[in-house]
Amino acid sequence: MKLSKEELNYEGRECSKEHPPCNCRAEEEKKLLESFSDALSNKSKSIRSLVAHLYMNHKETFLGNYVRLNDFHNAIGMREGSTGKEDCWLLYLLVKEFKPKCIFEAGTFIGTTSKFLADAAMTHGGEVHTCDPVNSYTSSATHDSSIYRYTMGAVGLVAELEHRRKEVDFAFFDTDLPNNQVEDLLGVAAEEFVLVAHDFYDSDDNLSKGARNLIFAWRILESRGYQLFIPDLAWSKYRMDTVRLKDGTKVFSPIGGTAAALLPPSFKLEDHLWRES
Ligand SMILES: C[S@@+](CC[C@H](N)C(=O)[O-])C[C@H]1O[C@@H](n2cnc3c(N)ncnc32)[C@H](O)[C@@H]1O
Repeated sequence: MKLSKEELNYEGRECSKEHPPCNCRAEEEKKLLESFSDALSNKSKSIRSLVAHLYMNHKETFLGNYVRLNDFHNAIGMREGSTGKEDCWLLYLLVKEFKPKCIFEAGTFIGTTSKFLADAAMTHGGEVHTCDPVNSYTSSATHDSSIYRYTMGAVGLVAELEHRRKEVDFAFFDTDLPNNQVEDLLGVAAEEFVLVAHDFYDSDDNLSKGARNLIFAWRILESRGYQLFIPDLAWSKYRMDTVRLKDGTKVFSPIGGTAAALLPPSFKLEDHLWRES
């Protein structure tokens, strides 16, 4: 994705430290979040409606794989403190919807989300490129051939993918990245791509690391028609096993996570609103 000069003028570019994130950007990012608070409430869309759309489009696949992946998450992900199940399902459904070929992930840890991403991408030949400065990955015979692992930070993986002329069409952040690294990722992104970030809100419903990264990317991409989907505050507090669709169907709910998504202009949301039972 070619970024214009105007799009590249964010003041925070001088900070390039990877991990732990440096504090010099905290003040600037606070200002950025404040300047977006109105836009957030007026222009963003609810992730509930996105999940309903994704669920209806991929219902058979979701239900067909629900028990297998749910058991897998219970056995490994939950025990080790990986990304929550609801957000793993959101990633899975988004990959089914957009069929990305080259998925970028920052924050492998034991690889639970990498495996949900790979599980969804394998059937259409998609690859997951995932990085973490610490190698804690646990192997999976089903997924390993679709997951390329890099023991390095996000800066290194962006450079590697650029070198290999890969175009990223889906990215997931599960770590706190400085904004200049988000900007660097946009440099290797396809014109139309999907960006998901974990922890839009923290457990007290304050904006968190996912919000900083997504809002920064949205600042650049909003004028191109990108759409921001964020969790509803009240819903981010609790988990639900089932919900009802407007037509009365009772289904499992992948709602209740803290991830948010930035989707390309071509995405048209269909109206399948959830109804609380
Ligand atoms: C919350 S964990 C990720 C959990 C993972 N998604 C899962 O489902 O198992 C965050 C990980 O980000 C890694 N990390 C920290 N700084 C990073 C960076 N600059 N680039 C990539 N990963 C980083 C940490 O080492 C940690 O393992």
